[in-house]
Amino acid sequence: MTEVRVNASGAYDILIGNNLLDSCGELCAQAVKPCKTCIVSDDTVAALYLERAEKSLKSAGFETVSFVFPHGEGSKTMDTIINIVEFLAENRLTRTDCLIALGGGVVGDMCGFAAAIYLRGIKFIQIPTTLLSAVDSSVGGKTGVDLRAGKNLAGAFHQPSLVICDYSTLDTLPDETFADGCAEVIKYGVINDRNFFFKLDGGIKEQIEEVIADCVRNKRDVVEEDEFESGKRQLLNLGHTIGHAIELCSNLEISHGSAVAIGMVIVMRAAVKYGICPAEDLEALISMLEKHGLPTSCTFTAKQLAAVATADKKRKGNDITLVIPHSIGDTRLCKLPISELENFINKGL
Ligand SMILES: NC(=O)c1ccc[n+]([C@@H]2O[C@H](COP(=O)([O-])OP(=O)(O)OC[C@H]3O[C@@H](n4cnc5c(N)ncnc54)[C@H](O)[C@@H]3O)[C@@H](O)[C@H]2O)c1
Ligand SMILES: [Zn+2]
Repeated sequence: MTEVRVNASGAYDILIGNNLLDSCGELCAQAVKPCKTCIVSDDTVAALYLERAEKSLKSAGFETVSFVFPHGEGSKTMDTIINIVEFLAENRLTRTDCLIALGGGVVGDMCGFAAAIYLRGIKFIQIPTTLLSAVDSSVGGKTGVDLRAGKNLAGAFHQPSLVICDYSTLDTLPDETFADGCAEVIKYGVINDRNFFFKLDGGIKEQIEEVIADCVRNKRDVVEEDEFESGKRQLLNLGHTIGHAIELCSNLEISHGSAVAIGMVIVMRAAVKYGICPAEDLEALISMLEKHGLPTSCTFTAKQLAAVATADKKRKGNDITLVIPHSIGDTRLCKLPISELENFINKGL
């Protein structure tokens, strides 16, 4: 088992190991005093893993109830949050009790948000079961829901008390969902760690514990420096501004990870054409993404993508902040006038 310590507004451990689920009760008891806990999960994950989690928590002295909602981004709404907090109140959870998120990023974001607002904030623990949630969403304390106007538009910063990543749960993921997480893994290498990027040539599944630990340490370092995303944390959005536009243009048929993969290629190709990034690095990125089952191009036009991207919430006034690779391992923030965006994307297509 690998342990990574995070010192954000609250300090907590991330535990990464094989078959940790059956001892999650013991592990939780080291971070929070045994109490009443509500396990929040989706129907797919609950069918696979809820019983094992409950059993272990009970034998460690926790009392458990569970709240299960239908899987998918469509559940990530205020309506589900209301149902969760009403359920917590009906079951009389108090300020000294805690929530446990058992699932992917959707479960983690919602459970974390419910924990942030119920009784003005109670503890929660993350047990991520997708590669994306293991390397990205379970770390850093961003929680929230989607609004009709867009993704993740309401939420709170609320750090977990513990993250337990049992990577044996990744074995049941559909290939496409695993590949989505690979896009975020590759992203970390491009942002600031060239050695890590090339280490991925050896495969992600093949070195899963090390890969998750490296990603989590990378995100931890960024979050510790800029917890509330006023500067450096924005680098983690590499490929995401254009990626979100691709997701939306495809009516969400193109998954998040696939869209981010294409988004990274578009910004890097534009950077190559502007003469600020070597062409070999673009080739290396494309072949790394392909090797991990990810697409590297799409059929939307620059005009379509720019129109959707300028509605992005990360936009400030007449400028948009893009994350531009100067090479693999060196990315920088760059403000671009909105009027330039279409031209920029066009260079990247
Ligand atoms: N908070 C953050 O910092 C942050 C960062 C990145 C992404 N996110 C959010 O994360 C969400 C995406 O996360 P995700 O990709 O994990 O999506 P998800 O939680 O919807 O999981 C994807 C699918 O896989 C299923 N699944 C989960 N674990 C499984 C397992 N072990 N075996 C079989 N099936 C399993 C789920 O039921 C779901 O259908 C988005 O809502 C995104 O906005 C948040
Ligand atoms: Zn992402």
